[in-house]
Amino acid sequence: MLDTMTATKIVGAICAALLVLLLGQWLAHSIYQVNKSEHGKEPHSIIFADLETNVVAAIDVAPVVDIAELLATADPAKGKKVFAKCKACHKANEEVNGVGPHLVAIINRAVGEVADFRYSNPMAELGGVWNVEELSAFILNPKSYLPGTKMSFAGLKKDTDRAHLIAYLQSLQD
Ligand code: HEC
Repeated sequence: MLDTMTATKIVGAICAALLVLLLGQWLAHSIYQVNKSEHGKEPHSIIFADLETNVVAAIDVAPVVDIAELLATADPAKGKKVFAKCKACHKANEEVNGVGPHLVAIINRAVGEVADFRYSNPMAELGGVWNVEELSAFILNPKSYLPGTKMSFAGLKKDTDRAHLIAYLQSLQD
C-alpha cells in the first residue's frame, strides 16, 4: 500500500513532467513560428531549451542583412563577374531561356512570369515580385527559400557578392 506521502510525491512528479513537456512543445512551436514568418530570412535569435534541466536560453545571431543598404556601395562591374555563376543557366541580356528562365528586367519582375518556361510547381505557385530583398534571400539559399525549386544552385553566401550581383542586374535595366 502506498502511503499518502509517496502518493503525493508521485502525483507531483507527474505534474512536473507534464509541465516540462508542455513548455517544450510550446517552445518548439514558437521556434517553428519564427522560421515560418521570416520567409527566407534567418531569425534574429534562436531559443534553446534543455528539457531535462528546464534551462531556457536565447542566443542572438547576426541580424538579417539590409541588402538595400549594401546596394548603396555595391559595384555592378564586380556583379558582372559574380553573374558568371548564373550564366550556365540564365541569360540576362536577351529573352532566351536556358536551363533557367531568362532574367531580363528581373528586378521587380513577377515571380514565375516567363510564359514559355516550365517552372516547378512551388515556383509557379509562389506569387509576389523579385524585389531586391526577395531576390537576395532566394539567391542566398534557393532550396531553403523555396523547397522543391528546380534551380540547382547552392547559393551565394557572401552578402557583398549578392549586393554586387543585384547592382549588376539593376544596371541592365536602368
Ligand atoms: C544550374 C542552373 C542554374 C543556376 C546556376 C542558377 N539558376 Fe536561377 N534558376 C534555374 C532554374 C531551373 C530556375 C527555375 C526554378 C523553378 O522553376 O523552380 C531558376 C529560377 C531563377 C529565378 C526566378 C525567375 C522567375 O522567372 O521567377 C531567379 C531570379 C534566378 N533563377 C536567379 C539566379 C541567379 C541570380 C543565379 C546566379 C547567382 C542563378 N539563378 C543560378 C537554374 C539556375
